[in-house]
Amino acid sequence: MNDQNLIIFLIGVSAVGKTTIGESLSETLKLPFFDADDYHPRSNKQKMASGIPLTDDDRQGWLLRINAEEEIKKNACIIACSALKKSYRKILQRGVESQVKWIFMEGDFKLLKKRLTDRKDHFMPISLLYSQFETLEKPEDAFRVSVDQSPQQIHDLIISELHKSDIGLVGLGVMGKSLSRNIASKGFKLSFFNRHVPEKEENVAVNFQKEFQELANAKAFDELETFVKSLQRPRKIFLMINAGKAIDAVIEQLLPFLEPGDVIMDGGNSHFLDTERRFKNLNEQGIHLLGVGVSGGEEGALKGPAIMPGGSVEGYAVVGKILESIAAKDLTGKACCAYVGKGGSGHFVKMVHNGIEYSEMQLLAEVYQILKQGLNLQHDVITDILKSWQKTEADSYLLGITIDILQRKENNKYLLDEVLDKAGNKGTGNWTTVAASQLGVPVSVLTSALYARYISAFRELRAEASKVYISKDNSPVEIDPETIRAGYQLARLVNHHQGIHLLNEASKAYDWDLNLSEIARIWTNGCIIRSKLMEKLKTYLKRNDQLLLQDEVIKLANNSKDNLKELVQKAIQKDVPVSCLSESLNYLNAYSQKESGANLIQAQRDYFGAHLYQRKNDPFGNWYHTDWDPNNNL
Ligand code: 6PG
Repeated sequence: MNDQNLIIFLIGVSAVGKTTIGESLSETLKLPFFDADDYHPRSNKQKMASGIPLTDDDRQGWLLRINAEEEIKKNACIIACSALKKSYRKILQRGVESQVKWIFMEGDFKLLKKRLTDRKDHFMPISLLYSQFETLEKPEDAFRVSVDQSPQQIHDLIISELHKSDIGLVGLGVMGKSLSRNIASKGFKLSFFNRHVPEKEENVAVNFQKEFQELANAKAFDELETFVKSLQRPRKIFLMINAGKAIDAVIEQLLPFLEPGDVIMDGGNSHFLDTERRFKNLNEQGIHLLGVGVSGGEEGALKGPAIMPGGSVEGYAVVGKILESIAAKDLTGKACCAYVGKGGSGHFVKMVHNGIEYSEMQLLAEVYQILKQGLNLQHDVITDILKSWQKTEADSYLLGITIDILQRKENNKYLLDEVLDKAGNKGTGNWTTVAASQLGVPVSVLTSALYARYISAFRELRAEASKVYISKDNSPVEIDPETIRAGYQLARLVNHHQGIHLLNEASKAYDWDLNLSEIARIWTNGCIIRSKLMEKLKTYLKRNDQLLLQDEVIKLANNSKDNLKELVQKAIQKDVPVSCLSESLNYLNAYSQKESGANLIQAQRDYFGAHLYQRKNDPFGNWYHTDWDPNNNL
C-alpha cells in the first residue's frame, strides 16, 4: 500500500482510545486526523446520548458520508471510527480498498467500562457499550493492538507496524518475479524472499530488486525469519514455488514464525488434494491457506493474471483486496479474481482451466496440420486464414499467439518448422483426466488432447511406423476454410462444455458450491484460455450449467455439425490425426443419442459377472439377472 495515499482506520468500540491514538499518530506521521463521530447527524447523537443503540439504517447515511468525504480521499490520513461490522467497513472503504489499513484496538469489557465511567466529556452512555460489543464483528484483515498498555506503547507499536510490508512473496522464479513487480507497481509495500543456495542461488532477491525501478521500496531477503518479521500482521505470504514437496517444506520452515490469523497463499499449480490436506493441517493451527490458481504465464503475472483463489474464506477477507488489485480486469473493469470456494477448489478450477487449455491448443494444432498437410498450404496462407478468424467468434488469446508463432522467422526460415514435435507437459492435464475419471465425468476431448501430447512424445516410434504405414492419398483435399473454422468452433464448444461439466460435478461431489458463470467471468481476461467464447459462456452459464443444452449453443451446434463432420472426414481421408476434432464429434453424438449401445454392455456384464441390469419398461428401476448362456437354457 502506498504511504502517500494510505487511509489508516483506527477501529473498535467506545473508549479504546481511538481519538487519543489517532491524534498522536497524526502528529508523528504529519497526517490529517478525522473523527468519524463528527460525521454523525444530530439525530444519531441524540439517540446515543439517550442510550438508544443505533441501527444499521441509522449508521448507513453516516458511513456513506464518511466514504464520500473528499478530504479523506485526497491524501493519506487517519480516521477514528468504530466500524463495528464487516458491512460497515465495506462501505467505508468502497472505492479506496487498496489504500485502507485497518487497525483494530481491542480491550476487555471491564476495562472499557471503567474508562467510560471515568469519562465525562462524551455522549456515549455505558449501556451502549454492551450493544457495541454485541454488534462487533472482529476484523480478519486488521492489525490488532491490545489497549491494556500505555498510549505511547500503542502508538509505537502502530508506527513500527506501518513501516512493515503489506505482503511477502517467496520464490523468485519467472512467475514470482513478475508477480512481485505487479504487486509493487500497484503501490503495495512488498518483501520478497529467495532461498540461498551456495553457488546456485546467491543474492537472488537483492539482485532482483536492483533490476527494477518499481522495486526501489521493496525489501529483499534470503533469511526466512527476518523476512516474516518484516510483514504487517496478519501476515500475507504468497508462495511462488514449484508444486509438490517444496510447498510442504517451505510451509514447515515458515510455521515457527507465524501466528494464528496469518495467511499463506500457494500460487503454484498444486494438486487440489494436496491443497485440501494442507488447508486442514494449517486450519488446525489457525493459519489460513488459500490455494490460488494463477493463470497468464509470465506476461499475465506481470500485467494482470486471472486469479482463482480457494480455501480459507477468512483468509480471502485478508488478502482479497491485494489479489483483486493485481488481477486482470474484465470488460466492466471488475477484477478477474474472486473467491472460488472451500478447500482445494481454487486449484481444482485452475487444473480444469489447464485441461481446457490443453484441448484449445491441440485443436489449433490439428487445424494447423490439416491446413499444412491436408491442404498443402504455406505458412503465410495459413496465417492469413487464421487472421481472418480473429474477426469472428473463434478469436482467442491462443489463436493470437499461434498467428505470431506462424510468422516467426529465423535465418529466413519459419522457426516453427525447426521446433521438435514432441509435446511436453507438467501434469495438470493428466490430473484433470484422472480427477474426471474418478468422478465419472466424460472429458474425452481433454483426454484426447493429453494423449495427443503423449503420442507426440514417442517420436522415434512414430518415425519407424511412418515407414510401414504410408498414406496412399497424396492429392490435396478440398475444403473451404470457413468449414474448418465452423467445425473448429463447434469442437471448442464441446471442449468447454466438458470442462464446465467436470467443474459442476466436482462442485457437487466436494460440496464446493462453485459459481460456474463467475468462473467463466474470471477466465475472460488475463488467463491463457481467454477468448470471445468465454465472454459468451459467462452469460450462458447463468442460464444452464449444461453448455450444450443452452439455446444459443444448440442453434450453433446444429448449424455447424455438418462442418465438423466434413472436417473430420477430410482429415481422416488424408490420414491426418485429429483426435480432438473427431472426439468432439463423437462426444456430441454420444451426448445426444436417446438410445445408446450401453444395453449391450449391461447384458454382457450380467452374462459373465451376474452384475444385474435394469429394464426400460420397469418404472421402479428394479434390478434383474438373466442366465444368458444358451447352453444352460437347452
Ligand atoms: C497458465 C498456464 C500455466 C502453464 C502450465 C502449462 O494458466 O498460465 O496453464 O499454468 O503454462 O504449466 O502446463 P504444461 O507444461 O503442462 O503444458
